[in-house]
Formats: sequence, C-alpha cells, structure tokens
Amino acid sequence: MKGVILAGGTGSRLMPLTKVTNKHLLPVYDKPMIYYPLQTLIDMGIREILVVSGPEHAGHFLSLLGSGKDFGVRFSYEIQDKAGGIAQALGLAESFADQESVVVVLGDNIIEDRIDISDYRGGALVFLKEVPDANRFGVAELKGDKVVGIEEKPARPKTRYATIGLYVYDHDVFSIIKTLKPSGRGELEITDVNNEYIRRGKLKAKILKGFWSDAGTFESLFRASGLVEAKRKAERRK
Ligand code: G1P
Repeated sequence: MKGVILAGGTGSRLMPLTKVTNKHLLPVYDKPMIYYPLQTLIDMGIREILVVSGPEHAGHFLSLLGSGKDFGVRFSYEIQDKAGGIAQALGLAESFADQESVVVVLGDNIIEDRIDISDYRGGALVFLKEVPDANRFGVAELKGDKVVGIEEKPARPKTRYATIGLYVYDHDVFSIIKTLKPSGRGELEITDVNNEYIRRGKLKAKILKGFWSDAGTFESLFRASGLVEAKRKAERRK
C-alpha cells in the first residue's frame, strides 16, 4: 500500500508563524510537525510516500525530507496550486496511487497509536477519537459501532467522536472526488468523500486508544508539543 501526506493549505489560523514557512514545518516539541504523520506511515509499513504541498514552500519540504533515503522510504512530491481542501489535494495522488489503495494522513495530525490495518479489505477506513471539542472536526454519528453519517464541524455535534486525519481508501476514492462540489468554506471536503462511502455501505471505523491531536491552531499546536514531551519523558523513565 502507498501513503500520502497532505501538507498544503495556508496555515492562516497560525499567522504570523506561517507567514514565511509552512504549518507542517513548524516544531512540535523536538521535531518538525510533518515527522509525526510520516512516522505513523512508516510504522504502518508504508515505504512509498507522496507529499502534497503548496507552491510557496514546496522547496522547503524537499530540503527537509529529500529522497527519503534517511527515513528508509521513497518520497514523491506533488503541488496543490491553490488551497482547495483535503479531498482536492488527495485527488492529485491519483496517478501516484496507480490503482492501489492509499493511506492518507494530514500533515498536522499527531497520532500516538501504532495503526494496524492488516484487516483492511477495501472500501474506506476511518479512525475516531473521543474529544471534548468535537465541533472543530468531522464528527461521526454512530448506531452501535457503525458510522451512519459524518458532519463537518457541526454546531451541535451528535457524538464526541471526531474523525481524525487518517484515512484508508481503495481506488474508488478518485472517482468519488471528481463528483464533489465545494462546501460553504469553498473546499472539497474529505467528509463528503466519507459520507459517499457510508452511502455505498463501504465505510468502517476504528477507535484510537492513545492520544491524538491536530496542530493547526495555537492551542492544539501547544497541546501537541506537551503530549509529545510527556511521552518522551515517560519513555526515558522506562
Ligand atoms: C480536517 C477535516 C475534519 C477532520 C480534521 C482532522 O479539518 O475536514 O473532518 O476531523 O481535519 O484533523 P480541518 O483541519 O481542515 O479543519
């Protein structure tokens, strides 16, 4: 299986930190943010990885990550000309995916768990985490342990289960993306992709055990650093 790291966007919520560099290159405790989702993919056994970024900072990603030799992986790079949403950025991975399934991770997601997808058999797989501020995310509506719908940033979330920025899709994802219309915020939404898989009866969900944070706001960036620091200290004590 191949991996895709989505690292585009303007990082407007982190201005002025993002005035001259990209959000995903900012530090989370002792590493550049993008190292964390990269490690998530590496731990899943993925070795061929596409990095999608905007034109302004693509060179910085190349300088930092290079060919992938230092990480034991192979990187490809793709440019998202304009910030048009997660699903639009993923659409750029179609030829890279080359008919295979893909694991997609958002470049600002810090995931503690080692993810096991050995039981993945096609369709879509999403990951859920119970959070206090679900209204900031795509929120899963559940019937038993089945996801029956996902709402993007609802004012009144039906559950506290956020869909985190890690997704596994079969090749159908690319034809689904081509049918999407921009949302209210002018983006092609990954939540619309997931709802289409639900409609087809082909979406499964797993619940995360360890910590998870995005890092796209000052609060979450700060929290992510704290979570990583606490983990490092705990590991040193072992
Ligand atoms: C995006 C997705 C949202 C998901 C979140 C995870 O939100 O649209 O469904 O829960 O990533 O980090 P955004 O970061 O674009 O606000």
